[in-house]
Amino acid sequence: MKRLLFWVACLATIGMARGADTLSLSSPDGRLAAHFWLADGGRPMYSLERQGKAVVRDSRLGFTLEWRKSDLASGFRLADTHRTTFDETWHPVWGEEANIRNHYNELCVTLLQDHYLDHEGKRVDKPTIMLIRFRLYDDGLGFRYEFPSTLNSEFLTHNSLVTFWLTDELTEFRMTGDHTAWWIPGDYDTQEFNYTQSRLSEVSKLHNNPHLTGGWPWKSFSDTGLQTALQMKTDDGLYINIHEAAVLDFPTMNLDLNENTFSLKVHLTPDATGYVGRLTSPCYSPWRTIQVCTSATDVLRSRLILNLNEPCALDDVSWIHPVKYMGVWWEMISDHSTWDYTNDFPSVRLPGDPSLPPSLQGAITDYSKAKPHGRHGANNANVRRYIDFAAEHGFDALLIEGWNIGWEDWYGKDKDYVFDFQTPYPDFDLPALNEYAHRKGIRLIMHHESSSSVSNYERFMEPAYNLMNKYGYDAVKSGYVGHIVPHGEHHYSQPIINHYHRAIVEAAKHKIMVNAHEAVRPTGLCRTWPNMIGNESAMGTEFRGRINPGHTTILPFTRLQGGPMDYTPGIFETDMEKNAPWNRDLMRHTICNQLGLYVTFYSPLQMAADFPEHYEPHMDAFQFIKDVAVDWDTSIYLYAEPGDYIVTARHPKTSTLNLAADGLAALPDGKKGVISNTACFVYGIPDSLSTFHSPLSTPLDVWYIGGVTDEQAREVEVKLDFLKPGVKYEATIYADAKDASGYVSDVHIGWEAAQKEGYNPKAYTITKKTVTKKSKLKLRMAPCGGFAVSIREIK
Ligand code: NOJ
Ligand code: CA
Repeated sequence: MKRLLFWVACLATIGMARGADTLSLSSPDGRLAAHFWLADGGRPMYSLERQGKAVVRDSRLGFTLEWRKSDLASGFRLADTHRTTFDETWHPVWGEEANIRNHYNELCVTLLQDHYLDHEGKRVDKPTIMLIRFRLYDDGLGFRYEFPSTLNSEFLTHNSLVTFWLTDELTEFRMTGDHTAWWIPGDYDTQEFNYTQSRLSEVSKLHNNPHLTGGWPWKSFSDTGLQTALQMKTDDGLYINIHEAAVLDFPTMNLDLNENTFSLKVHLTPDATGYVGRLTSPCYSPWRTIQVCTSATDVLRSRLILNLNEPCALDDVSWIHPVKYMGVWWEMISDHSTWDYTNDFPSVRLPGDPSLPPSLQGAITDYSKAKPHGRHGANNANVRRYIDFAAEHGFDALLIEGWNIGWEDWYGKDKDYVFDFQTPYPDFDLPALNEYAHRKGIRLIMHHESSSSVSNYERFMEPAYNLMNKYGYDAVKSGYVGHIVPHGEHHYSQPIINHYHRAIVEAAKHKIMVNAHEAVRPTGLCRTWPNMIGNESAMGTEFRGRINPGHTTILPFTRLQGGPMDYTPGIFETDMEKNAPWNRDLMRHTICNQLGLYVTFYSPLQMAADFPEHYEPHMDAFQFIKDVAVDWDTSIYLYAEPGDYIVTARHPKTSTLNLAADGLAALPDGKKGVISNTACFVYGIPDSLSTFHSPLSTPLDVWYIGGVTDEQAREVEVKLDFLKPGVKYEATIYADAKDASGYVSDVHIGWEAAQKEGYNPKAYTITKKTVTKKSKLKLRMAPCGGFAVSIREIK
């Protein structure tokens, strides 16, 4: 009976080209309705509407196949339907909230072709079976294709689809009008673009704008190709977001737009041979998702993508924890130092290279004899300096890049045997530095830049993870810069998607957390494998001045829908010339904008990316980075509009304000210590570190609020009605000063000329106020600015 309530047999009122046998499904709140039907010729179709108004017009479903003249998009009859409803609340290992409700109504249709035509057009009388499973939530629709090997039903036996190759996916999302879209161009290898805000009809006109990449030449598969998550907004104010969930053993989906019909068609990333999927049943496609929200803040609140992924696959997650880290990193990114060690060799040959004949063994590079060029960042003294600073200020971890031999050839050489992930440079004492770090309560984060030589990374994955286990590294940042080796594969093609996944699963066996850069953008798999604590897969801080104002107000609507991003915020020194005299970039943000990002941008892995010496003059503002939590039980999205601003309030999983101020933690040497607010509080204190930390017996109630804006200055009023009644709090407000501005018209004009334009990124005020649930805060953001507030219960 309950089922009958959400099932409507046929809705004839909408006026779409649906047949009499339309099956309809409504969302738990009854506002969304999805329809499925077989059009003439047995063609599977669907549509989606909200409160009687079309969101997705009648759209095609299915695939074309190699070795068959007939396709998986016609000739079907409906063999079975199955309907169900589901409602559970699950608890992520880390996340934006402690409880996530997964509530949907489901329709699964079994489609059957009684015969098919082989590649010569000959009729084969064997059944072909494809299921389409629709899950409708209050905030959107997910559907996927399923290919059973044998159907467990009275009337069917084996599926003729055993091993089959896809040549195209025909799924469409036909929009109802010329919506506004925040888009990046379609690509098989990178998401590292600026976003463009335009009407759908303007995409091809704006597609080759060099500003998208910050300048380098690039070519898309089509001048109307787009990537997901694609955020759109209708003229009626409906937010529609198209993405995918749980991409496993399948290529990444791009979209190809028809600017006349506003129709988006799936365009899958081909593999080196041109196929877009080599499948063996039983198997299923990723979920195709259409999020439908009536406000921008609801988009940020949506957990559609996570919900469509499977529950956690790991029995023991006690070793997974949020991480706040620093790195010997920004100095290489900003050209202050280098990843490589020597200029002695035009090219290097690493020991063990299996491609070398015995007669060329003498060509192996001997780094012990090489003359260091003196700019190598990952040297013992420099690493110790960072460890000292990170430990003193309560961080969990330190990333060190450029520690291992091979960086002389890391880029642009498309080399197979590019790194061994084992051998440190002569000036990096791996055991001693780990020992030094561990004594100070810091874990080192391993770095595996694969240079996209996937074949080589696969070769070394096991020994590389073993080395990490040996020295107590529990997190790795991996990287996939450059062309994929094996040549011809793409970052988003099926074999490489499988590689990224294998890296996560193998890492879990070694109790290693993974943060992959340049890998595929996430699709919620962190629900299933929560050791996937970070990903880049978007234009991040390392693009410096090339990042458009407003970029960080778009990413939470797009890239972050699939999972957290290692955006690497916290750059206080915005003039790159201070890092390297030849680097003319000015960054378009204020210091308070950077602070705000720690709250508006969710990630269980957050970096304070700048040099220690750039924090030292601003220790009062740096205090917010030390204090802010990275794991939350509640998130409240107060104000948002993609491309314009985001204001978010979050409550940590437990009290996480830095306890050093209270003298509650002491280092063994008697100095006052600081408490990292991540692993030790949220997940218990590891034995080895227990002498460094002491948890509070009665946690204080704390909240954090962050705001960021684009080039427009804005003022917002935040009501603190989420605070506990009857409790007094102290609010510390980090705000852009009246004359602050992070905006500069041209990022290369130099500091002095920029100042004449009003560029004043380091001007901030810090004020304290007693507040209660009844208080309101007026918070102003400068152009490219922001604010951060920590609110702490007064006992
Ligand atoms: C690109 C990554 O995004 C960056 O963070 C890293 O430092 C370099 N590759 C080198 O691996
Ligand atoms: Ca990158």
